Amino acid sequence: MPARGRLIALEGIDGCGKSTQAKAVASALGALVTHEPGATPLGAQLRRLLLDPDSDSAPVTPRAETLLMAADRAQHVAEVIEPALASGVWVVTDRYSASTIAYQGYGRELGGDGLAEVVAWATAGVEADLSVFVDVPVEVAATRGRGADRLERLGPAFAARVRDGFAAQAEAEPDRWLVVDGTRDVDAITAHIVDGVRARLGPEPEHGR
Ligand code: ADP
Ligand code: TYD
Repeated sequence: MPARGRLIALEGIDGCGKSTQAKAVASALGALVTHEPGATPLGAQLRRLLLDPDSDSAPVTPRAETLLMAADRAQHVAEVIEPALASGVWVVTDRYSASTIAYQGYGRELGGDGLAEVVAWATAGVEADLSVFVDVPVEVAATRGRGADRLERLGPAFAARVRDGFAAQAEAEPDRWLVVDGTRDVDAITAHIVDGVRARLGPEPEHGR
């Protein structure tokens, strides 16, 4: 039986560069790369409901949004993440539980009301072994592609709360978080993350994916 795989989550505000880093880090570590929301067939439907809602419907409420994000993650854990970890594969996910705490807890201001319990319940106890906060100022993220469009819709005050939400989580649990400066060039950030992962979690399996 191979040793259980490790779960590494890339986190940060829209446009911080975490999708770019998730792919590069997974490739360096021989890990499976995945993302939230939307990595399973159910998740793809939830992602559409969440990010591209039918304009005739009332807006998704913050609590409904939270539960749909949690549902996406429950399915993602069961279908993709847990089977990979159980077979010894390392997994790099572009967003995980900390995104719900940051966006719904801090951004939508639903924190402190049983949110952490809902988030933990949805994953059946599968926590990230290491979360990586790719930190960029809101003004920098706002210049970067698709993420910038969404940030603009949510507004700078929302984005600032979300960034604070990630920073607060990283500060509260420094052993479980790596904070990287996302304003550096792509390769320098990747090297920092890969070194940090190996320092915290030990070497990746020799025969990755
Ligand atoms: P996210 O997944 O956080 O929204 P992406 O990885 O999709 O971010 O990157 C958003 C945009 O910024 C893309 O156009 C990408 O090429 C660019 N980008 C990513 N990382 C950097 C970086 N370190 N410096 C400059 N531009 C970057
Ligand atoms: P994502 O596909 O990562 O967007 P981007 O690549 O632009 O960063 O995530 C889509 C959006 O969903 C993003 O604005 C963050 C939001 N989100 C939440 O609000 N809560 C969550 O739990 C997750 C996973 C994502």
